[in-house]
Amino acid sequence: MLSKKIEKALNEQIKIEAESSQVYLSMACWAEIQGFEGVAQFMYAHSDEERMHMLKLVKFVNERGGHAKVSELAAPPIEFGSFKDMFQTLFDHEVFVSKSINDLVHITLEERDYATHNFLQWYVSEQIEEEALARNILDKINLIGDDKGGLYLFDNDVKQIVAQGVADTPQ
Ligand code: FEO
Repeated sequence: MLSKKIEKALNEQIKIEAESSQVYLSMACWAEIQGFEGVAQFMYAHSDEERMHMLKLVKFVNERGGHAKVSELAAPPIEFGSFKDMFQTLFDHEVFVSKSINDLVHITLEERDYATHNFLQWYVSEQIEEEALARNILDKINLIGDDKGGLYLFDNDVKQIVAQGVADTPQ
């Protein structure tokens, strides 16, 4: 059974994951209308992954005697400046999500809720992967800058990442 404090903290994380899904969906649209198919595919896949992160939390809260709340979400930006800016935003966002997961893990220890603590270890590992992937892509785009030919090749590289399923971590 979840304490009220843990239930509230998990519900806040549900909102963060849902908002992450919206942000990446908006990034997918911005890339797609400019013809960057690889980046768009990557962002669509990432958006789906965030929804999966959210659903996993929703099911856990309901199964543990809590009530998962589906709440109003903040609207994501619709423009992202440059691809470099966009991937920087993605990286910063993942660092923010990791911090939020760490805070949540800390609360489970304070509350001596070892079941939730155990459940959250999956998110701790997932965040290591997500940050590493975002950092890897950011390094690539930082090398390219805003060079058009470079961006075209970058888009193809990202398409390969999606094809290899790196952006689509299995549950
Ligand atoms: Fe669900 Fe990318 O954190």
